[in-house]
Amino acid sequence: MAILYADDPADAAAWAAAIRALEPGLELRFWPDSGPAAEVDFAIVGGRVPGSLRGFPNLKAIQSTWAGVNHLLADANLPPDRPLARMVDQGLTVSMTEFIVLHTLDSAREGPRLRAAQRDRQWLDLDPIAPRSITVAMLGLGTLGVDAGTRLAALGFDVRGWSRSRKEIAGIQGFAGRDGLRACLEGAQILICLLPLTDDTRGILNAETFAPLARGAVLIQAARGAHLVEADLLTALGSGRLSHAIIDVFATEPLPAGHPFWRHPGITVTPHVAAITRPGTGASDIVENYRRALAGQTLINQVDRAKGY
Ligand code: NDP
Ligand code: OXD
Repeated sequence: MAILYADDPADAAAWAAAIRALEPGLELRFWPDSGPAAEVDFAIVGGRVPGSLRGFPNLKAIQSTWAGVNHLLADANLPPDRPLARMVDQGLTVSMTEFIVLHTLDSAREGPRLRAAQRDRQWLDLDPIAPRSITVAMLGLGTLGVDAGTRLAALGFDVRGWSRSRKEIAGIQGFAGRDGLRACLEGAQILICLLPLTDDTRGILNAETFAPLARGAVLIQAARGAHLVEADLLTALGSGRLSHAIIDVFATEPLPAGHPFWRHPGITVTPHVAAITRPGTGASDIVENYRRALAGQTLINQVDRAKGY
């Protein structure tokens, strides 16, 4: 019985240390040195699968160290009939909330305008706008959207949230389904995307979605590159429909050197660093899911393949 680590080799030592600190007796193998295939009963994967996991006859389950699993669900290297768990990690959640709060407050306090004014040695006489008069539309009210949205509400922002099923969350006005989307967006000054990438959400950040927002709204996109129709963002920034966009995730990563986003004055590019899983806090669910996989139980945060997240 062995766990095969097939995630980023650069992180292997940290994951091994965190897992062994909890369960010193576990047998860990590291891709591509899996040992006899029949001995592998659990696999840990990340943002890329280095090769096929179909040749392990006793593989009982697969654990992602990433929260979003759209890339895994589309990867023919993964056996489609084995349970897959996504990562919900307190360390990741906290860092995503920091990212969202940082950029929401910076947008609310007109950071992009102030930095542009400084470059022109221009003294801008701005009055701070109170958070209560700024409406934030949060697309996705899952682990990450709820944590960030609740924190923004505590800072005084008027927070709306959109999900597939309607949510009742203190401080967040909930909207659901396609019908609720427009109401959620109407007049919002800040649009945040924390949705999983599925067939339903691909391309959702488009001209139609930007149209109901307040003029000059800001987009904070920290979910998946394929949510965004890039040409529609450039048009919206050009027309003033949006004033700024903070983009952490891209259709092609790393973002190619010649991509127009790099030098666009209305776009802040961050290189998919909004949040990462920390082995110290993420390992406990992996150890528990290994136990559950061996016992034939449902995994913690098991992905619903029909829903796609
Ligand atoms: P969850 O699965 O916990 O939450 C997803 C939310 O999206 C749920 O509220 C769900 O609704 C909602 N949703 C899904 N499909 C639809 C739809 N068609 N219409 C409306 N709402 C929908 O995910 P997390 O919060 O953990 O993560 C969200 C995403 O963030 C990840 O999938 C990943 O892509 C991205 N991410 C990015 C990182 C980065 O560094 N940039 C790091 C980590 C994650 P319901 O509640 O009804 O199911
Ligand atoms: C992600 C992650 O899903 O880093 O982007 O977990």
